[in-house]
Amino acid sequence: ALNRPRAKIAHVYRGTFMHSTQDTTLEIIEDALLGVDTVGKVSHLLHSPKKKKKKNVNDFHALLRCSEFFMPGMVDTHIHAPQYSYTGTAMDLPLLQWLNTYTFPVESRFKDLKFAHRVYTEVVKRTLKNGTTTACYFATIHTDASLLLGKIANDFGQRAFVGKVCMDRNKSDYKETTQECQKETCRFIAELLNKKYPLVKPVVTPRFAPSCTGDLLGQLGAIARKNNLHIQSHISENVDEVKLVKELFPESKSYTDVYHKYNLLTDKTVMAHGCHLTDEELTLFSETGASLSHCPNSNISLCSGLLNVRNVLKHKVKLGLGTDVAGGYSASMLDAVRRTLDTSKVLTIQNPKHQALTFDEVFRLATLGGSQALFLDDQTGNFEVGKDFDALRVNVAPPGGPIDLILCDKPKVGSGALYKGDDRNIVEVFVAGRKVVPFMEPAAE
Ligand code: GUN
Ligand code: FE
Repeated sequence: ALNRPRAKIAHVYRGTFMHSTQDTTLEIIEDALLGVDTVGKVSHLLHSPKKKKKKNVNDFHALLRCSEFFMPGMVDTHIHAPQYSYTGTAMDLPLLQWLNTYTFPVESRFKDLKFAHRVYTEVVKRTLKNGTTTACYFATIHTDASLLLGKIANDFGQRAFVGKVCMDRNKSDYKETTQECQKETCRFIAELLNKKYPLVKPVVTPRFAPSCTGDLLGQLGAIARKNNLHIQSHISENVDEVKLVKELFPESKSYTDVYHKYNLLTDKTVMAHGCHLTDEELTLFSETGASLSHCPNSNISLCSGLLNVRNVLKHKVKLGLGTDVAGGYSASMLDAVRRTLDTSKVLTIQNPKHQALTFDEVFRLATLGGSQALFLDDQTGNFEVGKDFDALRVNVAPPGGPIDLILCDKPKVGSGALYKGDDRNIVEVFVAGRKVVPFMEPAAE
């Protein structure tokens, strides 16, 4: 319906394409032709003209032909960029002690822009190489370092949401005053928008209710509403945290109600975890259009809880997957896919009536589900004509790679690759039509 002039076709890719659509969890289009136009959008996706079937097909060539496929880039709906610096080294405390002992001291160091530059470059490269074409980042309370994260994502060509973290309540001095949070959030938004990075957007980011006063939450809700911005935070991750929120906000009916009261639940909100939400709270998510980021590695690593994704989906709440580095010890969305399946199966072990998620469903959550959760599904998430070409070219069996042998059973090729593969299998990554892996090192200043 848009009256946009048609851009010229710049590239055509031929191969097997796998993606999720509005109506299917996993659609596999074999031997297709996908066109990308000069502005990086999918211009067409067609079955290639049928060739005459050759007799005596050599098995080796059949194997080679099915050893590659394209899939949509994965969407990490929740990751803390500064925490990448200590991933895997702080796995022995529950959430609230973990924050005080490890997280806040490390995040304090991001006042140092040189240190921030080093860590942020590594996290952007690592996640891109592992197939994260869109990342929704928490930075730290430091505005300039948060702006630097936006620049680095832009330089490497990653689609990113970046949040300057707000907290005006903390035992340590890793915090700002309410007024500083408000002023610096406005400066962060204005300066990031002013850079006009095409793929990077600011997110209003109250860390979570326990580290924010009601005043601050209200001000951030107003800023988000006025500028029609995304919002991210944490919710109901751990039982001690839920108890603390009850004590700090006695007037609210529930944890969800705290955010709702301050206008922080919108269709552009993504809340991490939600392990302990009640059905009533999930209904409030569904009514407001707010979404959840499921972070299974973190939920297990910090002994926080097991989110019942099946129940979330039954409540028609949008849900994507997140790595939650460094609560989660892996920055790879491949890991998030596996942990999501594991967690769901644990719930089935505990209760045989629980209907475990299928691989196809989880593939959808890692791609289209994440796009929906970030209010991006008109732009990314699958290979629908008109969307940006955010894609991975996966080679199931590259020389020297982690997969030695795979049966050439097309419907299962994706499952085999995502369960057993790693970044060596992700041979090319595209964001908005541009090849971003292998890296093009950003131009010198
Ligand atoms: N809740 C508030 N801050 C954090 C954080 O940095 N990580 C996790 N996992 N939960 C949080
Ligand atoms: Fe988190």
